[in-house]
Amino acid sequence: MFEKLLISHCAPTLAGIKTGNLFSYHHPSGENIVSLLAIWNEKLNTRGIYLTSLKNKDSCTLIYIYRKKELLNLLEKEEIQSFLEKQDYPLFSLDSVLDHLRKRLLMSKDFPHEIGVFLGYPLEDVIGFIENRGKNYICTGCWKVYHNPRNAQRLFHCFKNCRKQFTYLYNLGLNTEERMFYYMSKVAVVYYSGTGNTEAMAKAVVEGAKEAGAETDLIFSDDFSASKLDDYDAVGFGCPAMGDEVLEEISFEPMFEECEGKLSGRKIAIFGSYEWNDGQWIEDWEDRCKEAGAVLVYEKLPAYDAPEEEALEKCRELGKALANS
Ligand SMILES: Cc1cc2nc3c(=O)[nH]c(=O)nc-3n(C[C@H](O)[C@H](O)[C@H](O)COP(=O)(O)O)c2cc1C
Repeated sequence: MFEKLLISHCAPTLAGIKTGNLFSYHHPSGENIVSLLAIWNEKLNTRGIYLTSLKNKDSCTLIYIYRKKELLNLLEKEEIQSFLEKQDYPLFSLDSVLDHLRKRLLMSKDFPHEIGVFLGYPLEDVIGFIENRGKNYICTGCWKVYHNPRNAQRLFHCFKNCRKQFTYLYNLGLNTEERMFYYMSKVAVVYYSGTGNTEAMAKAVVEGAKEAGAETDLIFSDDFSASKLDDYDAVGFGCPAMGDEVLEEISFEPMFEECEGKLSGRKIAIFGSYEWNDGQWIEDWEDRCKEAGAVLVYEKLPAYDAPEEEALEKCRELGKALANS
Protein backbone atom coordinates (compact mmCIF):
# COMPACT_ATOMS: atom_id res chain seq x y z
CA MET A 1 0.00 0.00 0.00
CA PHE A 2 2.71 2.49 1.05
CA GLU A 3 4.93 1.49 -1.86
CA LYS A 4 2.06 1.84 -4.34
CA LEU A 5 1.40 5.38 -3.09
CA LEU A 6 5.09 6.17 -3.28
CA ILE A 7 5.14 5.10 -6.92
CA SER A 8 1.99 6.91 -7.96
CA HIS A 9 2.88 10.19 -6.21
CA CYS A 10 6.66 10.30 -6.18
CA ALA A 11 8.00 8.57 -9.32
CA PRO A 12 9.58 11.81 -10.68
CA THR A 13 11.55 12.34 -7.45
CA LEU A 14 12.59 8.69 -7.32
CA ALA A 15 13.71 8.94 -10.93
CA GLY A 16 15.77 12.06 -10.28
CA ILE A 17 13.82 14.51 -12.46
CA LYS A 18 12.12 16.43 -9.65
CA THR A 19 13.36 17.84 -6.33
CA GLY A 20 10.49 16.63 -4.20
CA ASN A 21 6.97 15.26 -3.94
CA LEU A 22 4.32 15.31 -1.26
CA PHE A 23 1.59 12.82 -0.42
CA SER A 24 -0.90 12.02 2.31
CA TYR A 25 -0.70 8.58 3.83
CA HIS A 26 -3.71 7.22 5.73
CA HIS A 27 -2.15 4.51 7.82
CA PRO A 28 -3.87 1.60 9.47
CA SER A 29 -4.29 2.17 13.21
CA GLY A 30 -1.32 0.87 15.17
CA GLU A 31 1.13 1.26 12.30
CA ASN A 32 4.28 3.01 13.48
CA ILE A 33 4.93 5.76 10.95
CA VAL A 34 8.36 6.59 12.44
CA SER A 35 9.58 3.02 11.87
CA LEU A 36 8.02 2.92 8.41
CA LEU A 37 9.86 6.08 7.36
CA ALA A 38 13.09 4.75 8.91
CA ILE A 39 12.84 1.59 6.80
CA TRP A 40 12.34 3.60 3.60
CA ASN A 41 15.08 6.06 4.51
CA GLU A 42 17.46 3.17 4.96
CA LYS A 43 16.58 1.92 1.48
CA LEU A 44 16.73 5.28 -0.29
CA ASN A 45 19.21 7.54 1.55
CA THR A 46 22.17 5.96 -0.28
CA ARG A 47 20.58 7.25 -3.48
CA GLY A 48 20.25 10.77 -2.08
CA ILE A 49 16.50 10.45 -1.40
CA TYR A 50 14.93 11.24 1.98
CA LEU A 51 11.45 10.86 3.45
CA THR A 52 10.13 12.92 6.33
CA SER A 53 6.78 13.55 7.93
CA LEU A 54 5.55 17.15 7.75
CA LYS A 55 2.24 16.87 9.56
CA ASN A 56 0.27 14.24 11.47
CA LYS A 57 -3.44 14.37 12.06
CA ASP A 58 -5.41 11.42 13.37
CA SER A 59 -4.20 8.55 11.23
CA CYS A 60 -3.12 10.69 8.30
CA THR A 61 0.50 11.76 7.73
CA LEU A 62 1.67 14.28 5.18
CA ILE A 63 4.93 12.84 3.82
CA TYR A 64 7.59 14.83 1.99
CA ILE A 65 10.07 12.92 -0.15
CA TYR A 66 13.02 14.89 -1.48
CA ARG A 67 16.42 14.72 -3.17
CA LYS A 68 18.75 16.24 -0.62
CA LYS A 69 21.46 17.49 -3.00
CA GLU A 70 18.96 19.16 -5.34
CA LEU A 71 17.05 20.71 -2.42
CA LEU A 72 20.27 22.10 -0.92
CA ASN A 73 21.24 23.51 -4.33
CA LEU A 74 17.87 25.25 -4.53
CA LEU A 75 18.18 26.65 -1.02
CA GLU A 76 21.55 28.15 -1.93
CA LYS A 77 20.04 30.32 -4.66
CA GLU A 78 19.86 33.98 -3.72
CA GLU A 79 16.36 34.57 -5.09
CA ILE A 80 14.98 31.53 -3.22
CA GLN A 81 16.70 32.60 0.00
CA SER A 82 15.27 36.13 -0.12
CA PHE A 83 11.81 34.69 -0.92
CA LEU A 84 11.92 32.27 2.03
CA GLU A 85 13.38 34.89 4.38
CA LYS A 86 10.20 36.90 3.88
CA GLN A 87 8.33 33.97 5.48
CA ASP A 88 10.86 33.93 8.35
CA TYR A 89 12.60 30.70 7.31
CA PRO A 90 15.86 30.27 9.26
CA LEU A 91 18.23 29.30 6.49
CA PHE A 92 21.27 28.03 8.42
CA SER A 93 20.48 24.33 8.02
CA LEU A 94 18.15 22.05 6.13
CA ASP A 95 16.69 20.75 9.40
CA SER A 96 15.83 24.28 10.53
CA VAL A 97 14.16 25.00 7.19
CA LEU A 98 12.08 21.83 7.32
CA ASP A 99 11.15 22.44 10.97
CA HIS A 100 9.88 25.89 10.00
CA LEU A 101 7.87 24.40 7.14
CA ARG A 102 6.31 21.96 9.66
CA LYS A 103 5.42 24.87 11.93
CA ARG A 104 3.89 26.82 9.06
CA LEU A 105 1.76 23.80 8.11
CA LEU A 106 0.57 23.51 11.68
CA MET A 107 0.01 27.17 12.54
CA SER A 108 -0.82 29.03 9.30
CA LYS A 109 -4.44 29.73 8.58
CA ASP A 110 -3.72 29.43 4.86
CA PHE A 111 -1.75 26.60 3.31
CA PRO A 112 1.89 27.77 3.06
CA HIS A 113 2.11 27.97 -0.71
CA GLU A 114 5.88 28.51 -0.64
CA ILE A 115 5.94 24.73 -0.32
CA GLY A 116 6.07 24.78 -4.15
CA VAL A 117 9.75 25.72 -3.86
CA PHE A 118 10.39 22.48 -1.93
CA LEU A 119 8.71 20.52 -4.69
CA GLY A 120 10.93 22.06 -7.39
CA TYR A 121 8.30 24.36 -8.94
CA PRO A 122 9.85 27.43 -10.64
CA LEU A 123 9.99 30.36 -8.22
CA GLU A 124 8.14 32.64 -10.70
CA ASP A 125 5.22 30.21 -10.64
CA VAL A 126 5.19 29.95 -6.84
CA ILE A 127 5.18 33.74 -6.54
CA GLY A 128 2.62 34.06 -9.38
CA PHE A 129 0.31 31.63 -7.56
CA ILE A 130 0.57 33.54 -4.27
CA GLU A 131 0.13 36.99 -5.84
CA ASN A 132 -2.81 35.91 -8.01
CA ARG A 133 -4.37 33.75 -5.28
CA GLY A 134 -4.29 30.78 -7.63
CA LYS A 135 -6.11 32.60 -10.45
CA ASN A 136 -5.02 34.09 -13.82
CA TYR A 137 -2.59 31.28 -14.65
CA ILE A 138 -1.43 30.63 -18.23
CA CYS A 139 -1.78 26.87 -18.01
CA THR A 140 -1.94 24.15 -15.38
CA GLY A 141 -0.55 20.66 -14.82
CA CYS A 142 1.40 19.57 -11.74
CA TRP A 143 1.27 23.24 -10.72
CA LYS A 144 -0.28 26.47 -11.99
CA VAL A 145 1.99 28.19 -14.48
CA TYR A 146 2.55 31.94 -14.69
CA HIS A 147 5.80 32.00 -16.62
CA ASN A 148 7.46 29.99 -19.42
CA PRO A 149 4.52 27.63 -20.15
CA ARG A 150 6.47 25.76 -22.83
CA ASN A 151 9.08 24.64 -20.36
CA ALA A 152 6.44 23.71 -17.77
CA GLN A 153 4.45 21.65 -20.25
CA ARG A 154 7.59 19.80 -21.29
CA LEU A 155 8.20 18.94 -17.64
CA PHE A 156 4.57 17.86 -17.06
CA HIS A 157 4.91 15.51 -20.00
CA CYS A 158 8.15 14.05 -18.58
CA PHE A 159 6.58 13.55 -15.13
CA LYS A 160 3.57 11.81 -16.68
CA ASN A 161 5.78 9.44 -18.68
CA CYS A 162 7.89 8.75 -15.64
CA ARG A 163 4.84 7.80 -13.55
CA LYS A 164 3.64 5.56 -16.34
CA GLN A 165 6.96 3.74 -16.58
CA PHE A 166 7.29 3.30 -12.81
CA THR A 167 3.74 1.97 -12.57
CA TYR A 168 4.42 -0.44 -15.44
CA LEU A 169 7.54 -1.78 -13.70
CA TYR A 170 5.63 -1.98 -10.39
CA ASN A 171 2.95 -4.08 -12.06
CA LEU A 172 5.70 -6.35 -13.38
CA GLY A 173 6.59 -7.00 -9.73
CA LEU A 174 9.87 -5.08 -9.51
CA ASN A 175 10.62 -3.41 -6.20
CA THR A 176 11.38 0.30 -5.88
CA GLU A 177 15.18 -0.02 -5.96
CA GLU A 178 15.01 -2.25 -9.05
CA ARG A 179 12.63 0.19 -10.75
CA MET A 180 14.99 3.08 -10.11
CA PHE A 181 17.84 1.04 -11.54
CA TYR A 182 15.95 0.21 -14.72
CA TYR A 183 14.61 3.71 -15.12
CA MET A 184 17.84 5.62 -14.79
CA SER A 185 20.46 5.45 -17.45
CA LYS A 186 23.81 7.11 -16.82
CA VAL A 187 24.88 9.82 -19.23
CA ALA A 188 28.18 11.73 -19.36
CA VAL A 189 28.37 15.08 -21.13
CA VAL A 190 32.04 15.69 -21.89
CA TYR A 191 32.94 19.08 -23.32
CA TYR A 192 35.59 21.68 -24.01
CA SER A 193 34.75 25.37 -24.11
CA GLY A 194 37.01 28.42 -24.23
CA THR A 195 34.46 31.23 -24.13
CA GLY A 196 31.38 29.45 -22.79
CA ASN A 197 29.32 28.79 -25.93
CA THR A 198 29.79 25.02 -26.02
CA GLU A 199 29.50 24.97 -22.25
CA ALA A 200 26.01 26.52 -22.53
CA MET A 201 25.13 23.78 -25.02
CA ALA A 202 26.54 21.08 -22.71
CA LYS A 203 24.44 22.36 -19.81
CA ALA A 204 21.29 22.22 -21.95
CA VAL A 205 22.20 18.64 -22.97
CA VAL A 206 22.42 17.78 -19.26
CA GLU A 207 19.03 19.41 -18.66
CA GLY A 208 17.43 17.31 -21.40
CA ALA A 209 19.03 14.08 -20.18
CA LYS A 210 17.91 14.78 -16.61
CA GLU A 211 14.37 15.56 -17.71
CA ALA A 212 14.31 12.19 -19.43
CA GLY A 213 15.29 10.56 -16.14
CA ALA A 214 19.00 9.94 -16.62
CA GLU A 215 21.65 10.34 -13.99
CA THR A 216 24.12 12.77 -15.54
CA ASP A 217 27.70 13.98 -15.12
CA LEU A 218 28.94 17.17 -16.75
CA ILE A 219 32.68 16.75 -17.29
CA PHE A 220 35.31 19.10 -18.72
CA SER A 221 37.50 17.32 -21.30
CA ASP A 222 40.62 17.53 -19.06
CA ASP A 223 38.85 15.31 -16.53
CA PHE A 224 37.64 12.54 -18.84
CA SER A 225 39.49 9.57 -20.31
CA ALA A 226 38.73 6.40 -22.25
CA SER A 227 38.85 4.37 -19.03
CA LYS A 228 35.69 6.17 -17.85
CA LEU A 229 33.58 5.23 -20.90
CA ASP A 230 32.41 2.01 -19.28
CA ASP A 231 30.86 3.97 -16.39
CA TYR A 232 28.18 5.37 -18.73
CA ASP A 233 25.36 4.12 -20.94
CA ALA A 234 25.76 7.04 -23.34
CA VAL A 235 28.12 9.98 -23.81
CA GLY A 236 27.53 13.42 -25.34
CA PHE A 237 30.75 14.99 -26.64
CA GLY A 238 30.87 18.76 -27.10
CA CYS A 239 33.71 20.72 -28.70
CA PRO A 240 33.84 23.99 -30.68
CA ALA A 241 35.52 24.41 -34.07
CA MET A 242 39.12 25.40 -33.43
CA GLY A 243 42.48 25.69 -35.20
CA ASP A 244 41.57 25.32 -38.81
CA GLU A 245 38.31 23.36 -38.69
CA VAL A 246 39.51 20.84 -36.10
CA LEU A 247 38.70 19.89 -32.52
CA GLU A 248 40.41 21.84 -29.74
CA GLU A 249 43.93 20.39 -29.77
CA ILE A 250 45.32 20.59 -26.24
CA SER A 251 42.57 19.17 -24.04
CA PHE A 252 39.74 17.72 -26.16
CA GLU A 253 41.53 16.11 -29.13
CA PRO A 254 43.94 13.91 -27.08
CA MET A 255 41.05 12.77 -24.86
CA PHE A 256 38.78 12.08 -27.85
CA GLU A 257 41.54 10.30 -29.77
CA GLU A 258 42.03 7.98 -26.80
CA CYS A 259 38.28 7.29 -26.64
CA GLU A 260 38.01 6.75 -30.40
CA GLY A 261 39.44 3.22 -30.20
CA LYS A 262 36.72 2.26 -27.73
CA LEU A 263 33.70 3.86 -29.40
CA SER A 264 32.54 0.83 -31.37
CA GLY A 265 28.91 0.08 -30.52
CA ARG A 266 28.82 2.91 -28.00
CA LYS A 267 25.92 5.36 -27.91
CA ILE A 268 27.13 8.91 -28.37
CA ALA A 269 26.13 12.30 -29.78
CA ILE A 270 28.30 15.26 -30.81
CA PHE A 271 27.72 18.99 -30.60
CA GLY A 272 29.62 22.26 -30.48
CA SER A 273 29.77 25.92 -31.37
CA TYR A 274 31.48 27.53 -34.40
CA GLU A 275 31.79 31.03 -35.79
CA TRP A 276 34.33 31.65 -38.51
CA ASN A 277 33.44 29.05 -41.15
CA ASP A 278 30.55 26.82 -42.15
CA GLY A 279 30.78 23.81 -39.85
CA GLN A 280 33.24 21.57 -41.70
CA TRP A 281 34.80 20.56 -38.35
CA ILE A 282 31.68 18.73 -37.21
CA GLU A 283 31.27 16.97 -40.59
CA ASP A 284 34.82 15.61 -40.24
CA TRP A 285 34.22 14.76 -36.60
CA GLU A 286 31.07 12.83 -37.47
CA ASP A 287 33.04 10.82 -40.07
CA ARG A 288 35.58 9.90 -37.42
CA CYS A 289 32.80 8.73 -35.06
CA LYS A 290 31.19 6.61 -37.77
CA GLU A 291 34.53 5.09 -38.73
CA ALA A 292 35.10 4.21 -35.09
CA GLY A 293 31.74 2.34 -35.14
CA ALA A 294 29.97 4.64 -32.67
CA VAL A 295 26.16 4.68 -32.64
CA LEU A 296 25.13 8.31 -33.10
CA VAL A 297 21.80 8.60 -31.28
CA TYR A 298 21.13 12.17 -32.48
CA GLU A 299 22.17 14.12 -35.54
CA LYS A 300 25.42 16.10 -35.15
CA LEU A 301 24.52 19.44 -33.63
CA PRO A 302 26.47 22.58 -34.56
CA ALA A 303 25.35 25.96 -33.18
CA TYR A 304 26.52 29.32 -34.45
CA ASP A 305 28.39 31.39 -31.81
CA ALA A 306 26.45 31.82 -28.53
CA PRO A 307 23.56 29.32 -28.80
CA GLU A 308 20.10 30.86 -29.01
CA GLU A 309 16.99 29.32 -27.47
CA GLU A 310 16.25 27.28 -30.59
CA ALA A 311 19.72 25.70 -30.50
CA LEU A 312 19.47 25.11 -26.75
CA GLU A 313 16.14 23.35 -27.28
CA LYS A 314 17.85 21.02 -29.75
CA CYS A 315 20.59 20.41 -27.17
CA ARG A 316 17.89 19.34 -24.68
CA GLU A 317 16.47 16.99 -27.30
CA LEU A 318 19.94 15.59 -27.86
CA GLY A 319 20.23 15.02 -24.08
CA LYS A 320 16.90 13.20 -24.08
CA ALA A 321 18.01 11.03 -26.98
CA LEU A 322 21.13 10.05 -25.02
CA ALA A 323 19.04 9.27 -21.94
CA ASN A 324 16.53 7.17 -23.87
CA SER A 325 19.04 5.43 -26.15
C1 LIG B 1 41.85 29.67 -31.72
C2 LIG B 1 40.47 29.64 -32.33
C3 LIG B 1 40.26 28.95 -33.50
C4 LIG B 1 38.99 28.92 -34.10
N1 LIG B 1 38.80 28.24 -35.26
C5 LIG B 1 37.59 28.22 -35.85
C6 LIG B 1 37.38 27.49 -37.05
O1 LIG B 1 38.27 26.86 -37.61
N2 LIG B 1 36.11 27.51 -37.59
C7 LIG B 1 35.08 28.19 -37.02
O2 LIG B 1 33.97 28.16 -37.54
N3 LIG B 1 35.27 28.89 -35.85
C8 LIG B 1 36.48 28.91 -35.27
N4 LIG B 1 36.66 29.58 -34.10
C9 LIG B 1 35.53 30.24 -33.47
C10 LIG B 1 34.95 29.36 -32.35
O3 LIG B 1 34.60 28.08 -32.82
C11 LIG B 1 33.70 30.04 -31.79
O4 LIG B 1 34.08 31.28 -31.23
C12 LIG B 1 33.00 29.23 -30.75
O5 LIG B 1 31.78 29.86 -30.44
C13 LIG B 1 33.80 29.07 -29.46
O6 LIG B 1 33.13 28.20 -28.61
P1 LIG B 1 33.36 28.17 -27.04
O7 LIG B 1 32.76 29.44 -26.49
O8 LIG B 1 32.68 26.96 -26.56
O9 LIG B 1 34.86 28.13 -26.84
C14 LIG B 1 37.92 29.61 -33.50
C15 LIG B 1 38.15 30.32 -32.31
C16 LIG B 1 39.40 30.32 -31.73
C17 LIG B 1 39.60 31.06 -30.43
